[in-house]
Amino acid sequence: MSQDTSSSTAYTASLHYDRRLYRQDIAGSMAHVRMLARQGIISKRDAQAIVKGLADIQEEIRGGTFPWREDLEDLHMNVEARLSEKIGEPAGRLHTARSRNDQVSVDMRLYAKEAIRDTVARLRQLQQALLDQAERHREVILPGYTHLQRAQPVLLAHHLLAYFHMFQRDVERFQECYQRTDVLPLGSGALAGVPYPIDREFLARELGFARISDNSMDAVSDRDYLVEYLADAALCMAHLSRLAEELVLWSSQEFDFLRLDDRYVTGSSIMPQKRNPDFAELARGKTGRVYGHLLALLTVLKGLPLTYNRDLQEDKEGFFDTADTLHATLEVFAGMVSTARFNQGRMRQAAEESYVLATDLADYLVGKGVAFREAHGIVARLTSYAKEQDKRLHDLTLDEYHQFSPHFDEDVYKVTLESSVAARDVPGGTAPARVEEALANARALLKEGTSKATRGSGNTPLGRRKR
Ligand code: ARG
Repeated sequence: MSQDTSSSTAYTASLHYDRRLYRQDIAGSMAHVRMLARQGIISKRDAQAIVKGLADIQEEIRGGTFPWREDLEDLHMNVEARLSEKIGEPAGRLHTARSRNDQVSVDMRLYAKEAIRDTVARLRQLQQALLDQAERHREVILPGYTHLQRAQPVLLAHHLLAYFHMFQRDVERFQECYQRTDVLPLGSGALAGVPYPIDREFLARELGFARISDNSMDAVSDRDYLVEYLADAALCMAHLSRLAEELVLWSSQEFDFLRLDDRYVTGSSIMPQKRNPDFAELARGKTGRVYGHLLALLTVLKGLPLTYNRDLQEDKEGFFDTADTLHATLEVFAGMVSTARFNQGRMRQAAEESYVLATDLADYLVGKGVAFREAHGIVARLTSYAKEQDKRLHDLTLDEYHQFSPHFDEDVYKVTLESSVAARDVPGGTAPARVEEALANARALLKEGTSKATRGSGNTPLGRRKR
């Protein structure tokens, strides 16, 4: 639907984006109407007519035959007007004991809850992809980096699990956000509550909310749960962008640590040799718009007096775009990670041709009684010498070692990439035994986390059977 900016309603209209709340809006209205009838506020007959009319409208919207009216500004007005066309007089009773202020808020909360469950499910898929790759590459060693300088050898599985844990924190943040989203605002009216004997607990049960809001004025003006989602999404995109950057680097000819699947690269129109990592680059780029949406909503809220102000209508587009962007990015990454092929030989070579064992040589000297600071100096001189000679540490003769310290012995050649990683045998370290434990923990986390994400109140509020 195009936005006609020539009329004055075009400026206030939200129909072109709030249409996507139609399922939530109709579910909210049906629950409200059932509650009104149960409480004797409207007749059972009217309630039945309204519920039936709303169900028909839902079908019309789903089937694309609903006659949208742009002059009616938003979804809520469109549905109500259509209901009136369909069932006549009883339609006018739907909005008893309700305001668009608590109505739009319940719609957004229902929508956000679904979005969060979707987000968590997609994060789980990406974690699973990372874990699968880690399990497949238990023995692969590569240089770990600090300052993008080859630093110390690590297991590829350890590196991949680092991302697993980043995304684990994201999952936990979204789950916490869910708790604060899972609050029913309906029954707050315009701002002060409603002068009818409504049953808010029934509404909460019917719509699958864990609890009801405590203060009607807060409820109609609260958008904190959306800010939280945007903040959690911004951080999650930051994580995805970091992973994207490593995929870009690692798939470059300079690193050549991995090959992205054909699906996730594009050729250049003029340079036939190129395999551009466009998907990873776009993810890195799309992080910007998600940060933008967070700042936009914080700015919308800043300085708003209680209670509802029309500014709040600006909460939607940024939220929708954030969820869409994040979901698409998570899906791409799950696929990109699970289909990536790691170049084990090249990783090992990068570790071997660098001086990543320098720390281990210093630790070796410490084992022979040398103070660590002194050992550090000895190995620094030794590695510059090796670099000058264009030799790897293992290519140096024992005589050459002895030029730097008498404490070097034959067993210095036993310091290897394998011995280096094995020595990092502390909780959270890269020793194979620790990484085995970490893999098992990650597996358990995923198992337990998946059941947790799909558990709890209100997981299928919109698909509930009629009572
Ligand atoms: N489209 C509006 C929004 O999204 C619905 C609520 C309008 N309420 C009002 N009092 N004008 O915020």
